[in-house]
Order: sequence, then C-alpha cells, then structure tokens
Amino acid sequence: MTSLWRAPRAPMTSDDPVERCDDVVVGAGITGLVTALLLARAGREVVVLEARDVGAVTTGHSTAKVSLLQGTRYSQLLRRQSEEVVAGYVAGNREGRDWLLRYCEEHDVPHQVRPAVTYAADPGRGLDLARAELEAASRLGLPVRWTEDLPVPFEHVGGVVLDDQAQLDPMDLLDALVEDLRAHGGRVVTGARVTGMGQSLRPVVRHTRGATRCDQVVLATGTPVLDRGGYFAKLSASRSYALAFDHPTPPELMLISAGGPTRSVRDAPGPRLLVGGESHPVGRTRSERGHVDRLREWTATHFPDAVETHAWSAQDYRSHDGFPFVGAMPRGLGHVHVATGFDKWGMTNGVAAALDISASILGGQMPWSRPIHRRISRPQAVAALVGINARVAMGIVTGAAEVVLHPLRPGSPAEGAGEVGRAGAVPVARSTVDGRSCAVSALCTHLGGVVEWNDAESTWDCPLHGSRFTATGEVLEGPAARDLPPRPVRRTRDVGP
Ligand SMILES: Cc1cc2nc3c(=O)[nH]c(=O)nc-3n(C[C@H](O)[C@H](O)[C@H](O)COP(=O)(O)OP(=O)(O)OC[C@H]3O[C@@H](n4cnc5c(N)ncnc54)[C@H](O)[C@@H]3O)c2cc1C
Ligand code: FES
Repeated sequence: MTSLWRAPRAPMTSDDPVERCDDVVVGAGITGLVTALLLARAGREVVVLEARDVGAVTTGHSTAKVSLLQGTRYSQLLRRQSEEVVAGYVAGNREGRDWLLRYCEEHDVPHQVRPAVTYAADPGRGLDLARAELEAASRLGLPVRWTEDLPVPFEHVGGVVLDDQAQLDPMDLLDALVEDLRAHGGRVVTGARVTGMGQSLRPVVRHTRGATRCDQVVLATGTPVLDRGGYFAKLSASRSYALAFDHPTPPELMLISAGGPTRSVRDAPGPRLLVGGESHPVGRTRSERGHVDRLREWTATHFPDAVETHAWSAQDYRSHDGFPFVGAMPRGLGHVHVATGFDKWGMTNGVAAALDISASILGGQMPWSRPIHRRISRPQAVAALVGINARVAMGIVTGAAEVVLHPLRPGSPAEGAGEVGRAGAVPVARSTVDGRSCAVSALCTHLGGVVEWNDAESTWDCPLHGSRFTATGEVLEGPAARDLPPRPVRRTRDVGP
C-alpha cells in the first residue's frame, strides 16, 4: 500500500555518515527535517539519521491538512486541561502553521488554501460534538462559524468552519526541506537505524551505519526509540487508512466528521478525491482489510464516479492527556530531546515541536510552550493512562495465551495469511506472501509483545506499543529497533526463514 505522494518518487540519495557533529536529529519526517533545518540555519553542524528513507513513515502517508481546526480536539483538550494550557497549544499550532505556509510560499512548495470543516453526519452524538467544538474553538479565539449547508454529496446536519487553512503534498514539502538543509551544510543519512545511545559527557548515537558523537540528540521518530522516558507506556498507537481517487469534481473543502466512524475528505491536484478514516489501535482489530473495504464502500455510495488510484495506511501516537510530549527527555542530561504524541495533527504540531526544541537547543524558549511544559495531569488524564496500560496488560495476557494454546498447524498458511503459534516451546509467527512462506519470532523485539497479522499490509503488528515488521521480520516503525529473528520450523518441509 503506497501513498499518492510517495508512489511516483524514487527514494532520495543518502549522504555519508560522519563520526562527529553538533546535533544528531533522528528521523526524516516533518518534525526531524524542520528541526534540522532550524538548527543548521543557526550555524550548527547537523546530521539527520533516518532508518528507512525520507518520509517513509507517517509524514509520507499523511492526509497533510495544515489546519488549526482539528476535528474535535479543542473540546477534548479543554476537558483535560486548563484554558491557559490549551491556549498554549493553539498558539504553538498557529505558529507551526504560519511557519509552514510561509516556508511553502518562499520555496515554491505547492499548496492549496481551503476551509477546514468539522461536520456532524447525524443529529445525534456527532452534532453534540461538533457544536461543542464550535464553542471551544470560539472560546480559544479562533474565527470559526457554523453552517448547515455544505456542498458535499453525503449526509450532514451541520459543521464548524474555519476558513483559510491549507493542504499540500507532504513529499513536496520534505523534498524542499532536504534540499534547503543540504544547502545549509546539513546531511541526511538514510538507511541508518538508530539502535542505541551511549553517554558520558556527550552522547554517542549508535546506528546501523556507524556511530556519531554529538552535543545534542533530537528523537523525531514518531514514537521515541530510546526507552529512557518510558514514553511508550503513555502513548497509544492508532492506525488509519486513506484512499485516493480520480474524480472530476471533488469538494474543495478539508472535512472531518465529528464522532465515529471518522471520515476525512480533501481534494488534491488531478483533480483527485482523498478519503481517510477507520482508525483502530495498532494490531488490535479483526481484519485491517475490512477497514479499507468500509472506506471503499462509503466512497462508492457518495462519489459513484470516483476511480480508485491509491490505497494506504499509517499510524500516529496519542498521549494519555492528548498533548504532544516535546522537550528534554528524562535521564538525557539535557542532551536528548523528544517530540511525539501529535495524534494525527502533526503538520502543525511537528513544526511547533521543531520550533520549541530548536529554540531550547539554541538557548531560548517559545513563550507559548511554557504552560504546556508545566502542565499537571488532571484525573481524566490519569484515568486515560491507567486505561492505556490496562489494555497493554490485557494484550500481554491474550497474546501469551494465543501462543501457549495454539501449536502451529502443519503446512504453510494460505497466500496472504499469517498465524501465530508455538513450534515446540518457541513462539513463531508464520506467513505466506507472494508465494514465499516465512517464519519469524512471534515476540516483538521492543518488549516481547506477541505480534498480530495485518491482512491489509501483510505485516506483523505489535498490539502493545505499535511496532510493525515486514513478513520477513524487518522493522518498519514503532519503538522497536531490531528485526524479528528468523525461526526455522522443522516439522514442515516448506516453512523456513
Ligand atoms: C492516516 C494519517 C493521516 C494524517 N493526516 C494528517 C493531517 O491531515 N494533518 C495533520 O496535521 N496531521 C496528519 N497526520 C499526522 C501527521 O502526519 C504526523 O503527526 C506527522 O507526519 C508525524 O511526523 P514525524 O516527523 O513526527 O514522524 P514520521 O513522519 O513518522 O517520521 C519519523 C521518522 O523517524 C524514522 N525512524 C524511526 N525510528 C528510527 C530509528 N530507530 N532510527 C532512525 N530513524 C528512525 C522513521 O523511519 C520516520 O521516517 C496524519 C496521520 C495519519 C496516520
Ligand atoms: S511495541 Fe512494545 S512490545 Fe511491541
């Protein structure tokens, strides 16, 4: 499943790794590249280490709406924090959006200005949520308005509108950032997965293309890959799906539904229609393919002229209190910084995080970030944290039971299928993809969760903290930094690594 944005492009070339620099930024998505550029512009020697290639994970698979109206986020955040903290969030996102759109103007990155809409599909809960968002956004000073007449062919009873937001092709943006970073002396080293970090006075970042000593490390890896802050225990990973269609007259609006099931709609040059939604916790659903099919059915009902061209999927991380975690990592001695928890609004939050972290490395502070850094969890957030960990504990128990109770059946799984079981006492994940049968360890290399088969993408997904692996065990994303090792299954002739 490849996104509309990544399908036509070859991966960018890699620079050579270096042994020393001022700053190592880990991750070449929007957060890492904007941070690296800001630091390089300030005269620092910056190296970006990227495990795969530029935009390979969430940014290159985003729907890339650059918006200050973010579904029903403000009403949710106001339930969990004071107005001062939420106002800091809005100010950071405003600065992130404005920085990004200025950057697009100055560097000829194509983008389209569109109204953002949070709409209610029915007069029940969706309407209550949309109205609550209107009130919350107004309270926070956003110039929102209410409409009951949207030019769209699907059911709606009303929606909140914020004019003059924007949308873009995120790979166009990343291309421009890489070129600009290199012009400022920065390097982008791809195929370099960070596997650990040593630290005496200064950090030494170990990666699959060597080791780099530096002064500051920024982990812009979606979810942090070094477990120093235990962030994985405060985050939940949510996967969702997107489809692109050729369509003669897509609505020129950026819409998202209030309440479930989520439907996210925008247009793109072509003209094309994009439809997204159907989110679920990573590794915790009966069939990923079922989610894609439901998006297809919805589109066929409301846009019968749409001809599908691309289908893809991606995940993002939500913190227990809904706010991103941005800043110095505990036990990093002030040298390690982290940015995560954008909850599917990282086009503005990723830039805000980059502004905040680079300011702090350069000796300053963004004024809007102070109340966010100082926030104290309210009972609702503590309850959410307990919920995240209860679900993880349940995942551990059910995963272990699945392995213990199910010896692997003889023979290989059917084409496109995967199964988890034990071969003797060894937990094995076995699959068949493109005629090739393969067996790997069923235990996630992060903290040993039992992986689940993803039937839409033919991957092994960990339900605990969202690590994902190819059928042959290579790490794709999430907090795991090592591949699933091969596990030869000797009793069947056609199974092996
Ligand atoms: C389906 C979907 C739709 C979305 N739509 C929108 C939207 O419309 N608007 C919006 O604002 N936001 C949206 N988002 C959210 C937004 O896309 C993300 O928040 C944002 O792209 C995150 O960027 P990032 O740079 O932090 O992470 P990423 O883009 O994931 O970049 C992290 C990089 O780190 C690399 N990495 C990971 N581990 C290592 C390691 N050990 N060593 C080296 N490199 C490593 C990865 O390979 C990756 O390239 C959406 C998210 C999803 C899932
Ligand atoms: S992602 Fe943490 S155990 Fe798998």
